[in-house]
Amino acid sequence: MNKDNTNKLALEKSKQPTVNKNMNIVIVGHVDHGKSTIIGRLLADTNSLPQGKLEQVKETCRRNSKPFEYAFLLDALKEEQAQGITIDTARVFFKTQKRKYIIIDAPGHIEFLKNMVTGAARAEAALLVIDANEGVMENSKRHGYLLSMLGIKQVVVLVNKMDLISYDQQGFEEVVKEYKSFLWEIGVEANSFIPISGFLGENVAGSSTKMPWYKGMTVLEKLDALDNKEQVENQIFRMPVQGVYKFTAGGDDRRIIAGSIDTGKICVGNEIIFYPSGKKSIVKTIERFNAPQTIEATAGSATGLTLEEQIYITRGELACISSETKPEISTKIKTKLFWLGSEDLNSDRSYLLKIGTQKIKAELETVVYVLDAVSLATSNRQYVKRYEVAEVILKLDKEIAFDKAENIIETSRFVLVDNYEISGGGIIVDSLEEKNIIKENISIESLKWIESSISREERAIRSGQKPTMIILAGSKEINKKALAIYLEKKFFRYGRNVLNLNLEGILMNTQLDIERDNSIAERNEYISKFAEISSVLLYAGNILLAAINDLNQSDIEILNSIVDPKNIKIAWIGDAIDTNIPISLFLEENITKEKAYGKIKKMMIDHNFIFEPYSI
Ligand code: GTP
Ligand code: MG
Repeated sequence: MNKDNTNKLALEKSKQPTVNKNMNIVIVGHVDHGKSTIIGRLLADTNSLPQGKLEQVKETCRRNSKPFEYAFLLDALKEEQAQGITIDTARVFFKTQKRKYIIIDAPGHIEFLKNMVTGAARAEAALLVIDANEGVMENSKRHGYLLSMLGIKQVVVLVNKMDLISYDQQGFEEVVKEYKSFLWEIGVEANSFIPISGFLGENVAGSSTKMPWYKGMTVLEKLDALDNKEQVENQIFRMPVQGVYKFTAGGDDRRIIAGSIDTGKICVGNEIIFYPSGKKSIVKTIERFNAPQTIEATAGSATGLTLEEQIYITRGELACISSETKPEISTKIKTKLFWLGSEDLNSDRSYLLKIGTQKIKAELETVVYVLDAVSLATSNRQYVKRYEVAEVILKLDKEIAFDKAENIIETSRFVLVDNYEISGGGIIVDSLEEKNIIKENISIESLKWIESSISREERAIRSGQKPTMIILAGSKEINKKALAIYLEKKFFRYGRNVLNLNLEGILMNTQLDIERDNSIAERNEYISKFAEISSVLLYAGNILLAAINDLNQSDIEILNSIVDPKNIKIAWIGDAIDTNIPISLFLEENITKEKAYGKIKKMMIDHNFIFEPYSI
């Protein structure tokens, strides 16, 4: 585009009204029924195209002796926009006086069902296009079924290519009747049916004079009449945790729990509870990216929360408000899903289930029934083929937090990954295990302590020691465990209340359900359980010893969020300190156990962690 045109465009844009609300619309339907044409026409008739674009595309067609297609406009825009656009699904933006629209144009070919589904999962409403001449086809039904399954309640049916049936009212009514009866069978009611000609622009942006028998709205009017997502006031708050970040500014040790709010509203001061862990705290601040702090945030916004207490939270948890309805927590779920994988869904293999920001291994336990989304015929067998819909029971490796589709559709949607490919998706209709109550109390750290009537100071004075966690860190090759055993004996003989917390021991004795796998998530969970147990023992005034291999910055962060950092001393054993974690004491690699004890004891005395007990 030349500079002149760019300036004109900028001027045009600045004249347009400022609209804040966004609405995601997906346009679906059988192949060639006219989806892209309708969008192209909408863009052209609402002056949403860059200046000269329509003429340019028409001219190119003329020069190549090709008939002009409105769908070409989308291709032409794709090349220019180059942002967020894939070959298969186009996102088109346009605005009216009322709001901004993001229209997802999903190809109708069955090969692209996945695009249709991912597009629809984000949409608030759908336009379903049916060719008046060809009538209701396979994907008109399949798409309709999937929309209803994904919980898209606002579906507008566009009966297109009315010009091909001479704008005949009876022809229109026949399509309406046939499709309505299909929708009725699947329990859906269409918002409305509009007879249009996408190519000729009849009833698209302007009313048609060719169909005086139709008294309803045009496509454009209908779009503006759709409802934005349910009012946030009526919704329950849900935010899947995307990550936890630390403020980096000097001395600031706050953590930000980041995520995108799925539904509802959160305010500063709300008590927030994370599932499945059940950890609680109060929202202290609400941070936004590149914007000032705010006191409340609502559905759709990317949000960062800081909390009153430092609790340890990881990606995957579902943030909820504790006074609101709890989500379900379970390892067994009943789902309605559609299968897109080239291999059947069966119980021989395991899949990865993704819901919100949670990822869990899943296996097919039972197929309740399989359904053909076109004929609606059901069958009984224990596998699901490509393009089939089924009700199945999935067994999960770990608990997940979610909602039943009838309660909150957004937090009931999931996808199944097979071999790195999204191969299916659906909604959870039921939770088959009730674990909610137990889970809420499982974290020792989340229990609210009623302070002991004996203060920490009184305990310290009596025992001549302050609670301390001495971590023996360093490379794997050095036998830190043997040193920990030795130190425990020496401190005990010296009259101290001491316990060597052997990590392996904790793992085996308390059945923490954590495999000794080296994956990061599992290590984090392992360390956090260790910290929770330690916090109780430290509360009782003990000196704890723990040998930890490969201690890293993330371990320290977890420990610090559960145990007061003042109580942690790290002794590094090795010939060089090959870590950037803060070290309290360095012990050479070949130091004798006796000397190591001497040094650690001196450090404890110097820092006033051990002193002479004061007996009453
Ligand atoms: P896929 O993306 O492949 O699923 O197709 P689509 O639904 O986007 O259809 P597209 O808009 O590409 O239109 C398919 C053909 O139908 C094109 O040749 C259009 O010109 C034609 N077409 C679309 N709307 C109308 C209409 O209202 N009347 C007539 N006569 N032809 C139309
Ligand atoms: Mg198309």
